[in-house]
Amino acid sequence: MSRTRYLAVAALALGVASPAMANDVADGQVVFKQMCSACHTATAGGKAGVGPNLHGVVGRKIGSAPGFKYSKPLTADAAAGTKWTRESVSTYLAAPQKAKPGTSMMIAVKDEAKRAKLVAYLNSLK
Ligand code: HEC
Repeated sequence: MSRTRYLAVAALALGVASPAMANDVADGQVVFKQMCSACHTATAGGKAGVGPNLHGVVGRKIGSAPGFKYSKPLTADAAAGTKWTRESVSTYLAAPQKAKPGTSMMIAVKDEAKRAKLVAYLNSLK
């Protein structure tokens, strides 16, 4: 294995963000402020607003933020113990009503690049 390749693999193994990933997180935070913060907080222990707190949402059980009354489909996912993944959050953001028919989240993020940045940002909140 070349040295560069080895370092890249080591960085991945350690979970160290590459500069490109760090940019996505920073960009995602900007997009989040513009498109999501009217309804969602993203800080640890942040309050529920129109939508639930999103700190640590990637890897968290769907529909499980405290102090928020979820719609039926998300409540059903919570009961089943299903967790959000980067992929499922992205699919949900692309078309919430298609991914989770009956969800009370109406806003869709059609732009794939914006969605990738948002997911990188949400994934960084741990
Ligand atoms: C107009 C208000 C509103 C906006 C803007 C909004 N959301 Fe939501 N969001 C909601 C509501 C309400 C829910 C709860 C959905 C349900 O119970 O079906 C939700 C749920 C979610 C969930 C699932 C949370 C969980 O605990 O399972 C994610 C992820 C999410 N939103 C991400 C986003 C992102 C990212 C943005 C910005 C692109 C955004 N939302 C913008 C209202 C909003």
